[in-house]
Amino acid sequence: MVSFEIVRGDITRFPAEVIVNAANRYLEHGGGVAYAIAKAAAGNAREYIRISKEAMREQLGKESIEHGEVVVTPAMRLERHGIRYVIHTVGPYCGGVWDNDRREKLKKAILGALKKADELGVGSIAFPAISAGIYGCPLEEVVRTFKETVEEFSKEAESVERVYLVLYSERDYRAAKKAFDFE
Ligand code: APR
Repeated sequence: MVSFEIVRGDITRFPAEVIVNAANRYLEHGGGVAYAIAKAAAGNAREYIRISKEAMREQLGKESIEHGEVVVTPAMRLERHGIRYVIHTVGPYCGGVWDNDRREKLKKAILGALKKADELGVGSIAFPAISAGIYGCPLEEVVRTFKETVEEFSKEAESVERVYLVLYSERDYRAAKKAFDFE
């Protein structure tokens, strides 16, 4: 069984073996949670961008990733929190609009990271609210898609036992709790 828990916190110091980055296609990590992870992991974001792009070339043999494709980088300084890997995945851009196509893209992004975590043999993985920041997707829909996708993944999971959705702001956390009654 895979558990799914919504928590409030800063993902750069969340003690899961894998943390997921809400990246863009080029792994530029210029803002939001991507910049925060890059800076915390390598000490300076530019260095982590270099490492990420190199990993993308090695793992995928190209310069950009699609929804559902992921890249793994070492946790570096985040290891002090028990984090071993960062998995980069790309959610859809919404700009306030939500539809089936975006739901499917987000599902792919989440599932890609979950499957890679299984491949890495880890037990715990923490996600930020992918696409709910700069990419402008409605938080409630994002949370609902997480729930559905984890449930689906549950049937095929091997090593992964605990999935966390780490919400950064108190406001987002309260809204998610209210909508889904996660007490
Ligand atoms: N821990 C957990 N969540 C965080 C943190 C943090 N330290 N910092 C920000 N967040 C939250 C935001 O509040 C938001 O709810 O992560 C969620 C995702 O927001 P973004 O980082 O803006 O990600 P996204 O909407 O997917 O946009 C991706 O932003 O950073 C760039 O390179 C990234 O271009 C890409 C785009």
